[in-house]
Amino acid sequence: MTVDSALSAVFPVGSRLDSRGHLHVGGCDTLELAREFGTPAYVVAEDDVRLRARAALGAARAHHPDLQVVFAAKAMPCTAVLRLFAEEGLWCDVASGGELHLALRAGFAPGRLVLHGNAKSAAELRRALELGVGLIVIDNDSEIDRLAELIADGALEAARTQAVLIRVTPAVSGRTHAKISTGQADSKFGFALEQAPAAIERVRDTPGLDLHGLHAHVGSQLTDLSPLSATARALASLGEHRVYDLGGGLGVAYDDQDHPPSIEDYVTAVVAAAGEHLGGAPRLMIEPGRALVANGGVTLYTVESVKRNVSTWVAVDGGMSDNLRPMLYAARYLAEVADRFGGSTPCRLAGKHCESGDVLVTDALLDDPRPGDVIVTPATGAYGHAMANNYNSVPRPPVILCRDGDARVVVRRETLEELGARDVL
Ligand code: LLP
Repeated sequence: MTVDSALSAVFPVGSRLDSRGHLHVGGCDTLELAREFGTPAYVVAEDDVRLRARAALGAARAHHPDLQVVFAAKAMPCTAVLRLFAEEGLWCDVASGGELHLALRAGFAPGRLVLHGNAKSAAELRRALELGVGLIVIDNDSEIDRLAELIADGALEAARTQAVLIRVTPAVSGRTHAKISTGQADSKFGFALEQAPAAIERVRDTPGLDLHGLHAHVGSQLTDLSPLSATARALASLGEHRVYDLGGGLGVAYDDQDHPPSIEDYVTAVVAAAGEHLGGAPRLMIEPGRALVANGGVTLYTVESVKRNVSTWVAVDGGMSDNLRPMLYAARYLAEVADRFGGSTPCRLAGKHCESGDVLVTDALLDDPRPGDVIVTPATGAYGHAMANNYNSVPRPPVILCRDGDARVVVRRETLEELGARDVL
C-alpha cells in the first residue's frame, strides 16, 4: 500500500499532491471537494477501504482454513462503507439495534452479523433472535435470563437454535488509553474468568441456545500484539470450543511516529496465538474496526480565524462535534493546509466549540495558515463520523466517498431544520 512519497503514510492509499500542491484523495482534489460539498466534511477513499478489507481477508485465507473477518461497525457506521465490507465478503459486528439496522440496510445477511453489547435490550435481543443473526455474544447473566425468557416466549422459530458465544474478560491488559482498554479484570464487559465456567454451563442448559465458543476483546488501538497470546491462554483454561473470536483492537498510525503492526502481522499473531493455546481452533474470528477504516478517511475543515497570543490559534469550522478523540483519549492527529503541505509554523488547531478543551491538534505545523484555507486532518476514518455529535447545535458533516476522481455524498450534511426536528412545541 503506497501513498505519494511526499505524503505521510497516514493518508489514504492513492493520495497525492498535484503540481499545484493540492491534496488529492480517491482521485479528487480536496479543495474542489471543500468548494463543492462545504466543510467540515469527512472524505473516504473507497480504494483504501477495499484494499484493507482484502488484505485482511487475504491474510486470513493464507494462514487459517476458517478465519472470519468481522468489521466492527462502531468504527464507521455509515451504510455505504458497510456496504463495501459486505461486498468484500466480511461479516459485521454490531453493538446495538441501530448498528444492526444499518448493517442490514448495507446488505449483510443476518447470518453474517455478530451482536455485541453489555446492556442489550430485550427488543435488541428479540430482533436478533427473530432475524437469526450469525452469533449473539452473551455478556452477562441477566442476558442469559433474558434470552431464555424470549425463547420461551417464541422469539425463536421452533425448529431453530441461536448460535452464541460467551464473552470472557481475560484479565489481560493491552497498552492503550484506559478508556479503550477492556480486557482487565475490572471491566464492564464480559464474564470474569472465574465466572465463565458457570456461564458456559448455564448457556448449555438453556433450550434454544447453541454455544459455539468464546469471545474476548482486550482493547483498542493496540500496537503491541503480545496480549493476543495471553488472551488465548486465558480462554484455553475454559475447555475446548468450536469458535474463538479474539475481538478487534489493532492500532493504526495517526502520525509518523506510530508504527503499528500491519493487518497481515495481526492475523498471523492471532493464528499463532490460537495455534499455541487453542489447538489451532476450528474457527477463528477477528473484529477489526479502526484498522480497516481509520487511514481511509480524512476530514476537511476551513479556517475561520487565526490569532496569536502565547500560541498561534488556528480555529476551524468543526471540532469536537466531528472528532471527539483528541478530547476523550488525548489522541494525536496531523494537520496540513490542503494546498500548502509541509509548513513550519507551530499552531494549535482549535475547533469552533465553546470550551477550551476543543483543540483538535495541539502541535500542528502549518504553512502560514489564513482564514479561508482548507485544512486536512488525516486518519479520521474511524470513530469520527461514529462519534459525531451536535454540541453547540452544529450540524453533523457529510461523508463523501471518493474513487477514481468521482465523489459521491453517502451521508449528507445535517440541516438546521433537522436540529429542531425532534422538538415538540
Ligand atoms: N470488537 C469489540 C467487542 C469491541 O468492543 C471493539 C471496540 C471492536 C471489536 C473494534 O475495535 P477496533 O478494532 O476498532 O479497535 N471510541 C474509541 C474506540 C472504542 C472501541 C470500542 N470497542 C476510539 O475512538 O478510540
